[in-house]
Amino acid sequence: MKIAVIGTGYVGLVTGTCFAETGNHVTCVDIDEVKVQKLQSGKVTIYEPGLEAIFERNIKQKRLDFTTDLKEGVKDAEVIFLALPTPPGGDGAADLQYVLKVADDLGHILDKYAVIVDKSTVPVGTADKVHNAIEKNAKVEFDVVSNPEFLREGVAVDDFMKPDRVVIGTQSDKAKKIMERLYAPLVRQGNPIIFMDERSAELTKYAANSFLATKITFMNEIANLCERLGANVDMVRKGIGTDTRIGKRFLFAGIGYGGSCFPKDVQALAKSAKDAQYDFKILNAVMDVNTTQKTRLMDNLNGYFKNNLEGKTIAMWGLAFKPNTDDIREAPALYNIEALISAGAKVQAYDPEAMENVKGQIGDKITYAENPYDALKGADALMIMTEWPVFRTPDFDVIKEELSEPLILDGRNLYEVDQMQELGLTYFSIGR
Ligand code: UDX
Repeated sequence: MKIAVIGTGYVGLVTGTCFAETGNHVTCVDIDEVKVQKLQSGKVTIYEPGLEAIFERNIKQKRLDFTTDLKEGVKDAEVIFLALPTPPGGDGAADLQYVLKVADDLGHILDKYAVIVDKSTVPVGTADKVHNAIEKNAKVEFDVVSNPEFLREGVAVDDFMKPDRVVIGTQSDKAKKIMERLYAPLVRQGNPIIFMDERSAELTKYAANSFLATKITFMNEIANLCERLGANVDMVRKGIGTDTRIGKRFLFAGIGYGGSCFPKDVQALAKSAKDAQYDFKILNAVMDVNTTQKTRLMDNLNGYFKNNLEGKTIAMWGLAFKPNTDDIREAPALYNIEALISAGAKVQAYDPEAMENVKGQIGDKITYAENPYDALKGADALMIMTEWPVFRTPDFDVIKEELSEPLILDGRNLYEVDQMQELGLTYFSIGR
């Protein structure tokens, strides 16, 4: 099939590359000339494990190309994916200007039937808006389909190639058949393609992410309570996770969820609900709890140093919002850096992938170490913000030797409490 993907951000690039890998011819379109030049020269513009190899292969085999010209990019495409940014506007609602601008252009450009697919996370009712924007100028028949993505950063290629399910919102039989054909290679193992109306598909994406964010937040509150009641959240997690109705995944307490999806989607769903005169109380609580949770360890740190962090140096392990990504959007580390700096402390950080991005955002407000142990030099305490594998089995003797105080604040529960005690380390984690 010939397909086009408009927008070469995270979702667009993964979608385009993976559909090329299943044998389609894919043209990706972006208005950013520098980015398109980079992509054309064979350089991947995002950090995503496993993407580079299939990206290079498909460019070489001429199934994947790039352009800044929308008209050229969508020429002869049977399916056109919209993978454009939908940033939160001032009121928390997703801003649709990029999506609707392209829809408007497509109305002028399309010269034969095509399926236009909303891949961006968009509020309920967007498929109708996109349809209307195209229809204003359309000379040919077309369908607009909602097909939300459920990709996790760090494992996006796997999530794309082996999806738990594919959700497709359309009421057109013609579009349904085309989408079924396109996704067939990805659901061979029998995972379902679930067809539904456009609005339900749009809401499915928000409901999935908001549910997961709520699940994590619930565990974070259980963890906070564990500390007060003398229970251990690891045990409670195992105790409830074995109930198949609850499930084992996404039950890990920590310093809150971050990233580009959960915070934005929870906020947008709460806003959609409000616009529909519905007060979605749980979501408001989830957002409140998550904000406090991100800097929860600051209470322990302040307690230890008797509310005087002036002149202290804190080593920070992990800056990305989660491991295997360089993404720092809504990362708890940034909130802690802000809190530390405003309390007069210095931060020496190490992250395997995200330091460049942090440098770009906050420059030399903190110092950046070459490796985890360099970050400890001359520091008074260690804070762990991201569960990168490299932090899981460190040399605790070196940690003790380097820190002026034997103090670890672990936002990701990486170590056993007993072991820390035996080593003579003061150890704060979450819910234990
Ligand atoms: C998420 C969804 O999982 C994905 O389906 C959607 O398409 C985009 O949003 P992503 O943001 O890449 O993906 O990361 P994910 O692995 O889901 O983690 C989100 C956040 O939750 C991270 O900050 C992570 O640290 C946190 N988390 C996750 C926990 O605190 N505890 C858990 O048990 C799981």
